[in-house]
Amino acid sequence: MGALRFRGTIVDRAATSQKTQLTVVIPTFNERENIREIVLRLDRSLPDIAWEAIFVDDCSKDGTSDVVRDIAATDSRVRLVLRHNRRGLSSAVVEGALAASADIVAVMDGDLQHDEKVLPQLYAAVARGEADIALASRFLTPGGADGLSSETRHKISNTGIRLANSLFGLSLTDPLTGFFAIRRDVVLDALPELSEIGFKILLDLITAAKPRPKVVELPFNFRERVHGESKLDNRVMYDFFLFFVEKKIAPIVPLPARFLSFGLINSFGILIHLAILTLLVNAFGSGFPNAALAATLVAMAFNYWANNALTYRDRRLKGGRFYLGFLVFAGLSSVGVIANVGVASMLVAQYDSLFYLIPAALGALLTVVWNYVVTLAFVWGQDRATARQVARLRPKLAAEIPRLDAARGAGPASIAPAHEPRA
Ligand code: GDD
Ligand code: MN
Repeated sequence: MGALRFRGTIVDRAATSQKTQLTVVIPTFNERENIREIVLRLDRSLPDIAWEAIFVDDCSKDGTSDVVRDIAATDSRVRLVLRHNRRGLSSAVVEGALAASADIVAVMDGDLQHDEKVLPQLYAAVARGEADIALASRFLTPGGADGLSSETRHKISNTGIRLANSLFGLSLTDPLTGFFAIRRDVVLDALPELSEIGFKILLDLITAAKPRPKVVELPFNFRERVHGESKLDNRVMYDFFLFFVEKKIAPIVPLPARFLSFGLINSFGILIHLAILTLLVNAFGSGFPNAALAATLVAMAFNYWANNALTYRDRRLKGGRFYLGFLVFAGLSSVGVIANVGVASMLVAQYDSLFYLIPAALGALLTVVWNYVVTLAFVWGQDRATARQVARLRPKLAAEIPRLDAARGAGPASIAPAHEPRA
């Protein structure tokens, strides 16, 4: 049905070999039901612009990438960037822009909430040199943001916009929109300074590019989502905080955001530890060893839970893996605690004139670094996740080989001769 009509209209036009003027980058995560409709609408909305679409998918479970590949197989304007082991809207957009063949890149959500009819205006504003970035704002027309799913989303949006403007010295009506056009070389200029955390890719680009790009805003109506669901949740507020910390700290100490987040959560863990210890010893009269053990366990559980939910939200462990992960985490951080006490006592013994806080702080820092490195490797590592993703992509691939082979007019034996040993 839709597929046939779609192939009929689109392939013929793709035959004209004109230089691509506009690349539309579309990040996708579980958007299967929206893909064909998006390509149809791009085709309808951009009759006078030579465009290509790059879908950047993070191995969606629903088979989004299969749909994109299927379309790309007959329409050369449609391409797929398939990432494994990765999550994140911002980084997906950046990688799509890098892969773009046009000098002007538009970024649009893959869920039909962004009105593709605005694309020609966004493109024109950048192409005519009126701006380095043309963004589509939900707040320039009354009711433009009605597509936001809830009152909470409206509140998050408003707070985010006010914060973004005041913290970064901007005066835009919608600095957090995910719908805009940009010159590709502005993205390149911004690359070294990009944070690429979370959803605020536009703000990231505006604040990273030097000199600061010229921005114009055009109105559009943010539509409601029909298929699939939003991936934006309350954690975006933490992301925003982290983004701010990274932007302000990185110029001084170039530490990765994940490490900052880990260290921050562990500092909270230390406060929790001390609070429980004091409470148990002073209010409940517990003996020190028992109180210390209880405080350590609670702080460990907090560190694990919070890091899983926030620092590693893109690789969050769930179900059975969550509990298994805690056991490994607890084991590994116990080693950290022992090392901490060891290093601190050693330093105190050697330089007994030193104020004890210095070795204690060194020990604590060492523990955080140790915990970060080992838990990154053994708790939130990605190997198993990759294996699962490959397993998901495989059956489809295998099913296609005979088909490709038939198209070439050869038998399956020509691909892998039976007598040749397999590596
Ligand atoms: N590749 C990839 N990886 N794509 C993702 C990921 C990811 O981890 N997370 C989300 N996406 C895709 C979605 O599939 C969708 O196409 C688009 O990014 C936007 O995601 P939504 O989950 O639909 O976001 P939203 O509608 O709630 O938020 C919109 O409004 C925000 C401002 O309120 C987006 O336009 C945001 O960019 C914008 O900041
Ligand atoms: Mn959306």
